Amino acid sequence: MMAAKIVVVGSFNMDLTAYMERLPRPGETVGGRLFVTGPGGKGSNQAVAAARLGAEVTFIGRVGQDVFAESALNTWRQEGINTNYVIRDPQHATGVAPIWVDDSGENSIVVVLGANLAMQQSDVDAAAAVIANADVLICQLEINYDIVEYALKVAKQKGIRTILNPAPAGKIAAEVLALADYLTPNETELEALSGMGGAVEPAARSLLTRDDQTVVVTVGAQGAQWVNKTGTKLLPPFPVNVVDTTGAGDAFSGGFAVALAEGKSLEEAITFANATAGLCVTRPGTAPSMPTRAEVEALLKTR
Ligand code: RIB
Repeated sequence: MMAAKIVVVGSFNMDLTAYMERLPRPGETVGGRLFVTGPGGKGSNQAVAAARLGAEVTFIGRVGQDVFAESALNTWRQEGINTNYVIRDPQHATGVAPIWVDDSGENSIVVVLGANLAMQQSDVDAAAAVIANADVLICQLEINYDIVEYALKVAKQKGIRTILNPAPAGKIAAEVLALADYLTPNETELEALSGMGGAVEPAARSLLTRDDQTVVVTVGAQGAQWVNKTGTKLLPPFPVNVVDTTGAGDAFSGGFAVALAEGKSLEEAITFANATAGLCVTRPGTAPSMPTRAEVEALLKTR
């Protein structure tokens, strides 16, 4: 099989993760057990996930000229990700993300996005030929919003399939939502986008702007639910031992992108993505916790 060609337009953050028994309340100091720095950022995590699953991945984004940028570039090189369209911004620092993870695997994250928010249309234009040749282009919301819109527009003009992982949670104009063939929010992001709490289906349905669009909502321990014009279905997760849920959404979106690019059906792609996310949460960290193709195939065979 030809390798799936995935273009990620997105963020890199250096994750600064502290592990502790329970998260501190405001004003409280708690003792941590372990502190780890590692490559993260939703865009980069999705790129690493896709690369480990066997895709040919190009990353379009910005880092600074600091030591964290070196770490980003080393990570992408090690993972075989094309870095030809990564800009080293002279004026902004590489993004960082202080993260807290408790003993149940739950997390709280602060992102200081720095260079990620300095992207220009010319960053995307430079990669026009690679985008035109891609199977799927995927964006998240940790870069400047105008570039999310621009990148999706460029991909649609070239007839390329698009995924928007609307994370972290925020509002998105209907005309930008319409540029995504697939939206992959979690429940918090779904609520922010739709303004509707409660049941997943009506909230997800309210985001559909085209007949051929699909929303796939990740619902944590329940798995993932697709909603489109033809109906809806919740697909269960794989039972795993949860250690750290950070990056699970990125593993899901990266896996989903690869599976769609390989021509899998919607439900096959969601099951593949559930397996990718399931393996990710069994390990600490974000990009380093992304599974290989062989691990995902082995987990799929257990069902
Ligand atoms: O989705 C997890 C990611 O969110 C982390 O890697 C962190 O950098 C933030 O972007």
